[in-house]
Amino acid sequence: MKDSSTKTHAVSANKNNTDADLLRRVRSGEFKIAVYGLGHVGSPLASAWLRAGAHLIGVDNSSEVLENARKGRTHIYEPGVNEAFSKGLKEKRFHLYSDPIKASQDSHFKLICVPVLLTNSFSADLSAVKQVTTAIGQGLKKGDVVSLNPSVPPGTSEDIVIPLLEKESGLKVEQDFYMIYNPERIYEGRAIEDIEVRYPAIVAGAGVKSLEIGTKLYSLVAKKGILKIGNMRIAEAEKLLEGVYRDVNIALANEMAKFCEKVGVDFWVAREAANSQPFCHIHKPGAGVGGACIPVYPQFILHAASASGVECKIISLGRNVNDSMPAYCVEQALKLIDVAEVSKCIVALLGLGFRGGVSDTRLSPTYKVIEELKKLKVKEIRVHDPFITSDPNLPHDIMLTSNLSKAAKNADLVILVSDHAEYRNITNEQLNGAAIYDGRGALDRSRFAALRFASIGRPS
Ligand SMILES: NC(=O)c1ccc[n+]([C@@H]2O[C@H](COP(=O)([O-])OP(=O)(O)OC[C@H]3O[C@@H](n4cnc5c(N)ncnc54)[C@H](O)[C@@H]3O)[C@@H](O)[C@H]2O)c1
Repeated sequence: MKDSSTKTHAVSANKNNTDADLLRRVRSGEFKIAVYGLGHVGSPLASAWLRAGAHLIGVDNSSEVLENARKGRTHIYEPGVNEAFSKGLKEKRFHLYSDPIKASQDSHFKLICVPVLLTNSFSADLSAVKQVTTAIGQGLKKGDVVSLNPSVPPGTSEDIVIPLLEKESGLKVEQDFYMIYNPERIYEGRAIEDIEVRYPAIVAGAGVKSLEIGTKLYSLVAKKGILKIGNMRIAEAEKLLEGVYRDVNIALANEMAKFCEKVGVDFWVAREAANSQPFCHIHKPGAGVGGACIPVYPQFILHAASASGVECKIISLGRNVNDSMPAYCVEQALKLIDVAEVSKCIVALLGLGFRGGVSDTRLSPTYKVIEELKKLKVKEIRVHDPFITSDPNLPHDIMLTSNLSKAAKNADLVILVSDHAEYRNITNEQLNGAAIYDGRGALDRSRFAALRFASIGRPS
């Protein structure tokens, strides 16, 4: 941004900041919104706009996702989305397109919510963003606004998205169209609430005009206010900082948990006491860090850092520690059974979602736990998850079920991998007396026989 200001300005989204004319245009359908990518981010974001009364076009390259949305359903577990989709369809304000150029021609505000994952060389895979940006550029009109929402390496908006939009449209940013970066700040399972009331929305613009229109637009849905950032690179880095902080913090918790186990200290009790001090926010240790965010963002930084000749030792170490946790948990769990019996062992894994309360399996630690168990040639592996009934990524010989007694039947060892709330009150009887390793410190140990139970962070 050419503006000299690189400061962060928090503004509250009270009535004075809500542009009445813009709201009228959004609600009348004069100013249409298109959300590209109806996944974990796009669906709740589209819902927030539908709930604000907008006329919205949902765009996706998956026919299954579009088919579901046309029936007022989403393929993900996210409270409030089905209701918002259904109401939007009933009121004829929600339309589904498979043609991304037509969606751009028919809309005025375009939000890019497609995934940015990792390439095999651990750099950011921007192929979906480039594909969608190209299509948006081909349908772009004067006065349109484009918002990039995924977490991306700093410089993506300025160096990749804007040049592509300008090339494809022949229009000039700030002069003919407006570009903003709005990193999505959601926690899956309560995403609509996060967007609407829990966090301020971060908005950065390609210039003063983009920032102004972006702020007015997001003020229509983000009741907690807008945190204006005077530069898109800073906003892109901000989102990565949030993720890296959590990854490194979890690595610290994992190290401290292992240390506490060895020296006979209950880490969980120590952690709770330590976190009562206002400067201490130690996260939870566990069987691994999964999802499309926390394990991915550190890699964006490590890749960019190595290209710039900067060493980020702590980030790299944190990644290694967290990546080693599934193997560590399997090692600890196997201590509960007789080594000679491993090849006869039936193991039930609790949880396939990458953490409790989600049906999202991307980079789930459960896959790594399975890999470790397969190396040890256990007799059988079963997976239980209350939300997931099918998963093409699971090896074919593994049973996946939402029926706990089926998963636990004759099991010798149970490993809790995802801390779904459904597991918290589980009893020894429900697990047929199998040995249990709690990889999230989520279970009530008093319900289990001491010699058949172990947990991360607790001395055995
Ligand atoms: N999931 C989260 O909790 C979260 C939180 C904050 C930020 N993010 C960021 O948001 C990005 C998107 O994440 P997500 O979890 O919503 O991903 P997702 O995989 O759940 O959803 C992406 C959607 O985009 C569609 N899609 C993919 N390529 C497309 C294309 N070329 N054209 C049209 N549609 C396409 C997919 O079919 C899918 O429905 C992530 O990469 C991450 O950077 C995610």
